[in-house]
Amino acid sequence: MDSGWQATQEYARRLDHDDPLARFREDFYRPAGTVYMDGNSLGLLSRSAEKAVLAALAAWREQAIGGWLDADPPWFTLGEELGRLQAALVGARPGEVVVTGSTTVNLHNLLGSFYRPKGKRRRILADELNFPSVIYALRGHLTLRGTDPQADLILVPSRDGRTIAEEDIAAAITEEVALVVLPSVLYRSGQLLDLPTLARAAHERGALIGFDLSHSAGVVPHRLSSWDVDFAFWCNYKYLNGGPGCTASLYVNKRHHGTTSPGLAGWWGYRKDKQFDMRLDWEGAGDAGAWQVGTIPVLATAAVAGALRVTLEAGVDAIREKSMRLTEYLISLVDCKLTGRDLGFSVGTPRDPVRRGGHIALEHPEAVRIVKALRARGVIPDFRPPDVIRLAPVPLYCTFEDVWQTIRHLHDIVDRREHLSYTPERGTVA
Ligand SMILES: Cc1ncc(COP(=O)(O)O)c(C=O)c1O
Repeated sequence: MDSGWQATQEYARRLDHDDPLARFREDFYRPAGTVYMDGNSLGLLSRSAEKAVLAALAAWREQAIGGWLDADPPWFTLGEELGRLQAALVGARPGEVVVTGSTTVNLHNLLGSFYRPKGKRRRILADELNFPSVIYALRGHLTLRGTDPQADLILVPSRDGRTIAEEDIAAAITEEVALVVLPSVLYRSGQLLDLPTLARAAHERGALIGFDLSHSAGVVPHRLSSWDVDFAFWCNYKYLNGGPGCTASLYVNKRHHGTTSPGLAGWWGYRKDKQFDMRLDWEGAGDAGAWQVGTIPVLATAAVAGALRVTLEAGVDAIREKSMRLTEYLISLVDCKLTGRDLGFSVGTPRDPVRRGGHIALEHPEAVRIVKALRARGVIPDFRPPDVIRLAPVPLYCTFEDVWQTIRHLHDIVDRREHLSYTPERGTVA
């Protein structure tokens, strides 16, 4: 094997023994009898998140309306408080992050703020491998503004169906492009884009730029403010373990505070000290808090708060370090056990660790059936069409032995043709 990795179970156990983040695994509830490799879709429940939700319920039960100011932390400023804590994960300055809304709705809000078509600069640039919800939002927004989504949404093509070349993106930012919206990590292949280079390219060409960090927040550190990114948005239910459908996050560069109005203004974005003056004129908060819309969903945010403690304690740099080792180990095991033996697997994720996020896209023409067979054996991955098995060895709760076990099961399934006893149709939720 490359890089000194070894293919034995004992070796995987040794790596776990030496893992400085090993103790965090016990903070999480892992579905009994499973190897969970799907934390890039839905992160696991931690004891800390559970405790925070129970505390929020107790505050509601015991303090009722008093919870807005007297709960710990007070619900009224929960979005700002969690934004302050999340700033460390994405390299934001104070006041640039707020926990609010949901991912796609936050994008709509940010488009309402940062898409400012002027003269012939009226196009939005994205890429053809972007997450569908983002593309729907971009098209919907262009339609709302009376522009033509067919003509005014430019999707940079992929050369290989898996990745997007940064130079192709830069070359497509013409003087007709007002705004660029891209993912940090591509949801299917796991490619990590070069965010600072792209931010520079957009600004040099006179466009604004925003990133969807859903597949990187909590597993890849960012420095959004030093890179001068205009805005970003992300969900908290993947690597940040905030629970299904939990409250999301957004980032707005300080440069835009007080000068750019929120596209979807609402009273929760009003200056907190004056919100209850109930005036009809708008006096938005002087920071990213202005992009909040309505009352914060406290129960859906409490788990975000609890889970965040675990991530911050582990530290996103240490998480990234372990993540790169886990994905590197996974790729070496694929090379050693699953390829070159006619088993039909290939790796669709960039092999350079600095060009990938937290998951690996394993490609196979029979991916749907293999995913079903894996689940039957207690390994939980997910499937993305047309042929991708996504495997996310999440550093906070996955082990090197989990990776080893996953590859062993994959090998045995295909070697024994076990997957052929499953139907090739994917489930409603894949
Ligand atoms: C990369 C990416 N962007 C956006 C979304 C949409 O998020 P939401 O359903 O929370 O609006 C998802 C959901 O999985 C995603 O993976």
